[in-house]
Amino acid sequence: MSGVDWEVLRTAAREAMRRAYAPYSNFPVGAAALVDDGRVVSGCNVENASYGVGLCAECSLVSALYGPGASGRPRLVAVAVVGGDGEPLMPCGRCRQLLWEHGGPDMLLETTRGVRPMADVLPDAFGPDDLTS
Ligand code: THU
Repeated sequence: MSGVDWEVLRTAAREAMRRAYAPYSNFPVGAAALVDDGRVVSGCNVENASYGVGLCAECSLVSALYGPGASGRPRLVAVAVVGGDGEPLMPCGRCRQLLWEHGGPDMLLETTRGVRPMADVLPDAFGPDDLTS
C-alpha cells in the first residue's frame, strides 16, 4: 500500500519491542515509522517505578523522530505498533494524539483491522489547526 514496506516497519517495531523496559506491566510494546525524509525510526515503552510517568512506545518513537538525522519538521508517513506477541497493537488514546500531531490525517497506521489512515483511527481530532482558527 502506497509504496510502504510494511514488513520493514513490522520488523523494526518487533526489534524495538524486544528492547522495552516494562518490568511493572510485563507488557512490552514496540513502534516503528517511516519518516518523510526516508528514515525508519523506532521506540519502545520505558516504564518507571512511579507508574504514571512511564513512556509509551509511541512517545519514544516521536522522540526519535526528532533524534539523529532529523532536520526541519520531519513527518510520520507510516507507523507500525506491536505488542509482546509481535502482532499489531492499537495505540492508546494519548498516543493517537501524538501520532496525529506528527503525521496528520493521512498518516498510515497498521491496525488490528489492516492499514488505515489516522483520520479513521482518531476521527474528529483536535490538532494544530484548531489553535490557528
Ligand atoms: N503502551 C504503549 O507503549 N503504547 C500504547 O499505545 C499502549 C500502552 C504501554 C504502556 C505500558 O508500559 C504498557 O503498554 C501497559 O499499558
